[in-house]
Amino acid sequence: MTGQPTQTGPPTTLDILILAAGLGTRMKSRVAKVLHKLQGRPIIAHVCRIATLLEPRGTYVIVGHQADRVRAAVEKELGNGQATFVNQTEQRGTGDAVMTAREALAGAKSTVLILSGDVPLVRFETLRALIEEHLANQASCTILSVRLENPTGYGRIVRDESANFLKIVEQKDATEDERQIREINAGIYCFDSEKLFSALERVRPNNSQGEYYLTDVPGILRDDGEQVTLYQHHDAREVSGVNTRAELAEFENLLRRNAVRRLMSDGGVTFIDPSHSYISSEAQVGRDSIIHPDVHIEGKSVIGEGCEIQQGSRITDSRLGNRVTIKDHCVIVDSEIADDCAVGPFAHLRMNARMEERAVVGNFVEVKKSQIGRGTKSMHLTYLGDATIGEDTNIGAGTVTCNYDGKDKHPTVIGSHVRIGSDTMLVAPVQVGDGSVTAAGSVVTEDVPPHTLVAGVPAKVKKKLNEGKT
Ligand code: UD1
Ligand code: CA
Repeated sequence: MTGQPTQTGPPTTLDILILAAGLGTRMKSRVAKVLHKLQGRPIIAHVCRIATLLEPRGTYVIVGHQADRVRAAVEKELGNGQATFVNQTEQRGTGDAVMTAREALAGAKSTVLILSGDVPLVRFETLRALIEEHLANQASCTILSVRLENPTGYGRIVRDESANFLKIVEQKDATEDERQIREINAGIYCFDSEKLFSALERVRPNNSQGEYYLTDVPGILRDDGEQVTLYQHHDAREVSGVNTRAELAEFENLLRRNAVRRLMSDGGVTFIDPSHSYISSEAQVGRDSIIHPDVHIEGKSVIGEGCEIQQGSRITDSRLGNRVTIKDHCVIVDSEIADDCAVGPFAHLRMNARMEERAVVGNFVEVKKSQIGRGTKSMHLTYLGDATIGEDTNIGAGTVTCNYDGKDKHPTVIGSHVRIGSDTMLVAPVQVGDGSVTAAGSVVTEDVPPHTLVAGVPAKVKKKLNEGKT
């Protein structure tokens, strides 16, 4: 009976439930919808990050389609053990999805915030306000609603003559009149856990899709005489879901435009063509840096002040210092570049490539898992893999560190003030000492002592060099 006054109000302990078991048929994909990427991260990862900001007691993710991959995506975002996964073996509707968490939440006596795994832009502040409203009203259920110009596809909010909540009706079950309603259910709700599960037991799949609708629960609660409140939100885009590829592209565009606008207005960054700049929302770019068209700055990349990133380069999860120039068409992944370096055109840095101050990597040079010392130059057509190179060394055109013997990778160590002649093959593991020189076309199979000139195939010592005269 509802005669029991809710003197204590709804429980203040928060549990979050994220629905992510569906395939997302409208995506026309073999990949579960919540795994599709937005700004390089799965859609579900965006939702999970917002959820944890609310510091819930528990986060429950309902998985089904490609459960293992969805679980992995969540764990990558939150860390292992931060979420509990509940398997919905057959996708029989959003009501059924919530029901699978019943055992986990039975007797929880909490406020349950339900989120859709496919609504990635929702903000922390919005959810916080929804929860506060729910608690302040001592409601059994609070629904986040929004008015849309085009509400097609969404569940409509039906109100009575006094504008109180009556029920939610799904698009496919709505009458012609109900379809005119612009206020829609965003699929984000707060429930009193006990009331939620008591009403869910009474949901029947007697609708056009033969599904168990979570959206029947508020109507059932209202008929029970429970308090069901609407929380009207005003930013439609923020609470809309990704249902189609077109919407995914729209979201991507929106986030990218926001990131560019933020960097121009607050960051003092120049974009030659903002509409062709692809910047992740997590990236940082320093003042007076100039970004040319078709540049992608992805993940958590940090770019310093006064840098210039030229046309068509991609920088992923990397750090650049100040006054770094990246010439056209470079790919820089998981790497670090110190102040006053120059890279490219057409260079590739990856797997923790590190350049110290004033180092230069030029045309068609690939640097993998290597460290290039201060002022060292490698200007043309070179592969440096698993190498450590000292300061003010010059690496001639066509140099290759032969780091792979078909089974294992081996290191190459080159000292400071070295001159590696054009077309030198450094057969690793091998070392070249400070101040040494390899002649053009040398194949270096043995360590070269400091201040020594080697030449030939295989390279032999030709003469000792005067120290300080290289
Ligand atoms: C749902 C709502 C609709 C609302 C819209 C807002 C229902 C019946 N309808 O419709 O009122 O306007 O969201 O975005 O709830 N899911 C499962 N298991 C299932 C079915 C779905 O986990 O058996 C998950 C999906 O993976 C998805 C979420 O629930 O993350 C929503 O499902 P979806 O099919 O996208 O619902 P909509 O048709 O958009
Ligand atoms: Ca949806």
